[in-house]
Amino acid sequence: MPHLQDCDVLIIGSGAAGLSMALHLADRFTVAVLAKGEIFEGATFYAQGGVSAVIDQNDSIESHVTDTLRAGAGLCHADVVQSIVQQGSDQIAWLLAKGVQFTTTASADGGQTMHLTQEGGHSQRRVVHAEDATGRAIETTLLEQASAHPRISLWPEHLAIDLITTGKLGRTPDRCIGAYVLDKTENAVRTIRARWCVLATGGAGKVYLYTSNPDVATGDGIAMAWRAGCAVANMEFVQFHPTCLYHPHAKTFLLTEALRGEGGVLRLPNGERFMHRFDERLELAPRDIVARAIDYEMKRLGSDFVYLDISHKPADFVREHFPNVYRKCLEFGIDITTQPIPVVPAAHYLCGGIVTDLAGRTSLPGLFAIGEAACTGLHGANRMASNSLLECLVTATMAAEAIVSDESVPCVLPEVPPWDERLVTNADEEVVVAHNWDELRRFMWDYVGIVRTTKRLERARRRVHLLRGEISEFYANFRVTSDLIELRNLVQVAELIIRCALKRKESRGLHFTLDYPERDDINYARDTILRAGDFS
Ligand code: FAD
Ligand code: SIN
Repeated sequence: MPHLQDCDVLIIGSGAAGLSMALHLADRFTVAVLAKGEIFEGATFYAQGGVSAVIDQNDSIESHVTDTLRAGAGLCHADVVQSIVQQGSDQIAWLLAKGVQFTTTASADGGQTMHLTQEGGHSQRRVVHAEDATGRAIETTLLEQASAHPRISLWPEHLAIDLITTGKLGRTPDRCIGAYVLDKTENAVRTIRARWCVLATGGAGKVYLYTSNPDVATGDGIAMAWRAGCAVANMEFVQFHPTCLYHPHAKTFLLTEALRGEGGVLRLPNGERFMHRFDERLELAPRDIVARAIDYEMKRLGSDFVYLDISHKPADFVREHFPNVYRKCLEFGIDITTQPIPVVPAAHYLCGGIVTDLAGRTSLPGLFAIGEAACTGLHGANRMASNSLLECLVTATMAAEAIVSDESVPCVLPEVPPWDERLVTNADEEVVVAHNWDELRRFMWDYVGIVRTTKRLERARRRVHLLRGEISEFYANFRVTSDLIELRNLVQVAELIIRCALKRKESRGLHFTLDYPERDDINYARDTILRAGDFS
C-alpha cells in the first residue's frame, strides 16, 4: 500500500458490523476495510448462539422488546430497542439473501422452517442460528461477498493507531478525515484519508485476565474515539458470560447459552443444582444473575469452577445441536454427552462504548461507530443474549443510509502531514510492555470484576494512572509496535470502565457493588456519560 491512500469510506473493523456496512455502501462508494490481524478474526467469527429476531408466529415484537427492556434493568432506550427489534426479520432475510445457511427444521406443512433456539432472558424461542457456530457462518459469507466486490478493498494486518481530525490539524470545523495506520507486515505507518470513517472495532474483553473474546478485542475504537473528543457511556456494564470452559489448556472457549436453552443445567461440584436459590428463571435468567450466582457459589465453596451438564439429554440430540462444542470439548477429554463440563464466568461483552445515535453517528462529524464499539442505548445495563449481532446488522444498515444521504461532506480532503517518527527510536525494553499488559488485566479482574467495591475500584484507579504515565512516556519516545498501541488503548479503556463504575453508586444490571447493593432509581436511572474535559 502507498504511504498516502484515499477512499470514500474507511471502515476500521471486518466483523459483522464492518463487513455488512461495506456491502451496503460499495455500490456507491469506494470502501476500505481494515483488520488488525487476519481478516476474519474478531468476536463475530466465534459467535455461537445466534441472532435474535422475531420469526415465529407465536412471537411478537412487543415480547422481544419487553424481554430486552427487562434484561437492560431500566437503562435501555425504549425507542432504540423498538427500532432495532423491528428490523430483526429483515436482517435475517438480508443474511439469507447473501447466502448464510441457517439451521432449519421440518415445518408443519412438510417444508422447512428456521430452527429457533432459546437463550437467557428471552421468553420465547427466537434465536436464529447456524448449528452452534453462527458467527463463523455469517463472517465467512460476508467476507466472500466483500472480497468479490470490486469497490471494497480488504486490508488485513493493518492496525489503526489514531484518527486524523481537522481539529488536530488546527482547522475548524472539526471533522474526522482519516486515520494513521500501522501496516504490520511492512512495519510502516500509512496515512489513509477518507470522506467518512467508521469504527467497527468490536469490544474490549482483553482488558480482563479471563475473557471469551479473541485477542483483537482491545477496545481500540473506543480509545481512539475518546482521544478524538467523542463522548463514551456506560462503560461500567461489562458482561461476564457465565459459562466458559475451565481447562488448563483451553485459552478461551465459550459454552453457548443455547446449551442451557436446550436443557443444560448448572451443578455444584457435588452435583447439586443451585440456580433455584437465585432466580425463578433458573439457568435461563439473564446473564448478570447467572454469572453472579456462579461467582457466589465458587467463592462460598472455594471451588475453581461449577459444572454445566447436558448429559441427561439424548447423545444424538446433543451432537446434532452442538457439533462444534462437542468436538472442542472432546479435544480436552470431556465427552459432553456423558460428562458434566467444568465452567467459569469470563468477560464477554461491553455494553457501553462510543455514544452514537441509531445510525452510528458520533459527536464528531464524519465519524461513525457501529457494533460492539458503540453504545446506542439498546442494551442498557445488561445485554440480552444474541441481541448484539442484531445490533451490528441494523446499525450498519442505518449508518450506510446516513452516509448515502449525507450531503454536507467535502469532496476535497485537506492535506495531512505524514506520521512523524523523527524523534523516536526502537524500544529498548519490550518487557515493560508485556509486564504492564499482564498487570493491567490481572488487577482489572481482581478489582473491577463481577462483584465490586469502592475501595477496590479506587485501588484500580491508582494503578491505572501509574500505568498510563509509563505508557505515555513509552509512546512518546519509541517507535510504535502493535503491542504498545493495544496496551495504550487497553489502559485507556480500563480507566473509562473504572471511572464509570465509580460514578454509579448503586447496583444495577451488570454493575454490582457491595457498597451500594440496591438499585437506586431516584438518582441513577440514567446513562453514565463521560465527555472530553470531564475529569471526575
Ligand atoms: P468484531 O467482530 O469483534 O470485529 C472487530 C474487528 O475490528 C476485527 O476485524 C478487528 O481486527 C478490527 N479491529 C479492532 N481494532 C482495530 C484497529 N485498531 N485497527 C484495525 N482493525 C481493528 N453475540 C450475539 O448476538 N450472538 C452470539 O451468539 C454471540 N456469541 C458470542 C460468542 C463469543 C465467543 C463472543 C466473544 C461474542 C459473542 N457475541 C454474540 C457477541 C458478538 O459476537 C459481538 O458483539 C459482535 O460479533 C461484534 O461484532 P463487531 O463487528 O462489532 O466486532
Ligand atoms: C452464547 O452463545 O452464549 C453467546 C450469545 C451471546 O453472547 O449473545
